[in-house]
Amino acid sequence: MSTITRILSGKDGVGKSTVTALVGEQLALMGRKVLLIEFENGLRCLDLYVGATATKVYDLDDLLNGRCGIDDAVAVSALSGNLSVIFATNSRRHIDPEQFSTLVLALSDSYDHIIIDTDCSEESIDCLSGFAMNSIVISTSDPSGTRDAKFVCDRLFSQNVPGVKVLFNRVRKEYIADKIVPDLDYSMDMIGVPLIGVVPELADIVRCTAKGSLPKNKTLTQKIFKSIALRLEGESVPLTVI
Ligand SMILES: Nc1ncnc2c1ncn2[C@@H]1O[C@H](COP(=O)(O)OP(=O)(O)O)[C@@H](O)[C@H]1O
Ligand SMILES: [Mg+2]
Repeated sequence: MSTITRILSGKDGVGKSTVTALVGEQLALMGRKVLLIEFENGLRCLDLYVGATATKVYDLDDLLNGRCGIDDAVAVSALSGNLSVIFATNSRRHIDPEQFSTLVLALSDSYDHIIIDTDCSEESIDCLSGFAMNSIVISTSDPSGTRDAKFVCDRLFSQNVPGVKVLFNRVRKEYIADKIVPDLDYSMDMIGVPLIGVVPELADIVRCTAKGSLPKNKTLTQKIFKSIALRLEGESVPLTVI
């Protein structure tokens, strides 16, 4: 049975797909069998981030609607044989929550982790609330980012969703030091859920997603995402706040 985790946010561009790719990669390098599903409707990018572009013609919508079988839609990443991905559809289509949960449950015997990279529509928030074991809300540390993250967390709480954590991404310590944005303690208090990680703004992360490559061993990027992967598995890894 897989650990099912969804990555969500109140805004686009805050790093949901980046976190999905980099955490999934670290879990795969730890020897886990990992499936990433890009639930984003009409805006595909995870295939690029994990080096799996053009390896499959079928996508999530094809799979859900019976136009292909599971093997036709599951692409193996060039970065690790343990890492697979189901591509988002390139067109805007309604995803039926029941069909989607049936698919995820059918796949869950074959993987240690299924990580679902969602968009920030209310439809996808609600669609996954029934069965995701972990929900990681990605937030930036500026006031509008934290307000949107709080909105998402409050919605999850109203649905009694367990395992909600926040991850601050694209954090710039000079902005905090100059008091341009509030510090992370304040932002955490605003959102009101436990922290699973803090990721600074790093050119190395842009490089990884642009080239579909792994972070080099022992770099800051690799260490941060390995720690998040370990915390997702319940290990207690001290947080290094940048
Ligand atoms: N911590 C970070 N440092 C630098 N760039 C980042 C970071 N996180 C994400 N990005 C960049 O931001 C862009 C958008 O990220 P993405 O994960 O696609 O956002 P989302 O899925 O939330 O819409 C990508 O080009 C990615 O490389
Ligand atoms: Mg995305």
